[in-house]
Amino acid sequence: MPVVSYASVSESPPLVAIACNPDSFTCKLILRSKSFSLSLLGREDTAKLGALATTHGGEVTDKLLSAGLAHRKGEKLNVPVIASARATLECSLESSRTLGDHRLLVGRVRAAHSDGTFTDSWDFRRYRPILYTGWKDGMTSYEGPYE
Ligand SMILES: Cc1cc2nc3c(=O)[nH]c(=O)nc-3n(C[C@H](O)[C@H](O)[C@H](O)COP(=O)(O)O)c2cc1C
Repeated sequence: MPVVSYASVSESPPLVAIACNPDSFTCKLILRSKSFSLSLLGREDTAKLGALATTHGGEVTDKLLSAGLAHRKGEKLNVPVIASARATLECSLESSRTLGDHRLLVGRVRAAHSDGTFTDSWDFRRYRPILYTGWKDGMTSYEGPYE
């Protein structure tokens, strides 16, 4: 599922966090498998990401595929890695606690890979990130001062 709540938590050990609605299928899968992947998608995948936000994973056999996102198994963990992702973190669940109406899930990064648009830093000539600007007949992204 799309998440805006991603946060970097610790460098050593490498920890990241997301806040997850406990009713979401994704949250249930993460708690059961004790693992998840975080993928950064380029702007060309904005509509597909929108499809992920409007489908409940429990209603389809393969939600990523039904949104047009091919995927493979992770390099280190049995997590789905989106083929078109510009970068992916494979995480094992380190800790989880309920805060308000969401579940704070902290993952330990077990593998990190990118398609080459990230080395020591992002190459923003080749990677145009999705900058969520709201929901207007679907998911929208700030286009930026690019041609
Ligand atoms: C841009 C965007 C960001 C979102 N961020 C979050 C988030 O951080 N946490 C969350 O629980 N849901 C978030 N959502 C909502 C979920 O993506 C949505 O409820 C999704 O359909 C859940 O799917 P699932 O039931 O298959 O897991 C976001 C939706 C959008 C469009």
